[in-house]
Amino acid sequence: MTFDVHAIRKEFPILGRQVNGRPLVYFDNAASAQKPLAVIEAMSSVMRGSYANVHRGLHTLANETTQAYEDAREAVRRLINARSVEEIVFTKGGTEAINIVAAGIGASIQPGDEIVLSVMEHHSNIVPWNFLRERRGAVLKWVEVLPDGSLDMESLGKQLSRKTRVLALTHMSNVLGTVPDVKRAIEMARAVGADVLLDGCQAAVNLSVDVQALDADYYAFTGHKLYGPTGIGVLYGKRAKLEALPPFEGGGEMIETVTREGITYNAPPHRFEAGTPPIVEAIGLGAAIQWLERQDRAAIGRHKQALLERAVAALHGVNGLRIHGLAAGKGPVLAFSLEGAHPHDIAQILDRQGVAIRAGHHCAQPLMSHLGVSATARASFALYNTLDEIDVFAEALSKARSMLS
Ligand SMILES: Cc1ncc(COP(=O)(O)O)c(C=O)c1O
Repeated sequence: MTFDVHAIRKEFPILGRQVNGRPLVYFDNAASAQKPLAVIEAMSSVMRGSYANVHRGLHTLANETTQAYEDAREAVRRLINARSVEEIVFTKGGTEAINIVAAGIGASIQPGDEIVLSVMEHHSNIVPWNFLRERRGAVLKWVEVLPDGSLDMESLGKQLSRKTRVLALTHMSNVLGTVPDVKRAIEMARAVGADVLLDGCQAAVNLSVDVQALDADYYAFTGHKLYGPTGIGVLYGKRAKLEALPPFEGGGEMIETVTREGITYNAPPHRFEAGTPPIVEAIGLGAAIQWLERQDRAAIGRHKQALLERAVAALHGVNGLRIHGLAAGKGPVLAFSLEGAHPHDIAQILDRQGVAIRAGHHCAQPLMSHLGVSATARASFALYNTLDEIDVFAEALSKARSMLS
């Protein structure tokens, strides 16, 4: 296997387009990644050739689509090295995956039970736990972030206690790019008897994830950042954990028997897949994973690190620019502030030069307040980005600097 970024780019049709008369430079990958033809065609092909509802029919199309849907589940299992496909629940996104766990655990939360979160969590890994604060009297405890953007393990040690029910932690920050030492964090949580949910929305595409080696109880991620479609996400849960977790939504497919007197629920994963699932989207995610399996992921990892290093070096050269988060081993996400310039203005000036970056609070307001800003600009890189694009970005940023100062 070799990695040739120019060959890869040809597989992503959108990368051929122009924006404002310039070749598109797409650096908004942490928000959502672009899709290769393999994904577009897999989704189109199922709708053209074999589409039917899953798990219900005894006819050929139903069987073919069910097979493709379950093959996608197996592809997800391989991606994160889960023990079995029963541990893989399809959801409509990373957000829903976290909500399933929070609501399920919430059913047995007592007032005063504690949920430990880090200050760098995405709102998706905060708000579902806040529901338990509002509805069940849970207490949210916050783990601090150090000045370089790394997770403060001492603070984690202080926040964990026998009252901790859950440690809910990102596997990679969508703002700082930080990859906390989650293995150590899980060991620490285990020592106090807490469950651990990892938010892998950024990590699933940027790291090699092994849920068995990590020993995470739950792992949530989303398809659309992994070169797959929107509308599909994954909840991994250890089999025993999922078996003990109450269902989230009620409806068809998630039951075993329904009588007038009572209902029994299906076993996981189907217990958590009420109603018709996102069939085509799951098949699209499966295609994205199979496509990634055909690439040299180690070479891709090195390529993204090279992009990050080039970008950090270029940004260091811009007057008045502050990078948020430079922890060792960080992922290819660069949030930054430019003195005297609003992040939205920076993003708009860059857009005029064909460069797509994000500006805002990135659904991480506790982190913004920790950083002392209300918003930042953010460039994030994917396997199809090139070193030349980093140079275009740096030049566009210098132009923004001179226009805004
Ligand atoms: C770290 C992190 N967690 C959770 C999410 C939510 O993912 P989704 O919007 O696909 O549900 C995101 C997406 O931005 C994210 O970056």
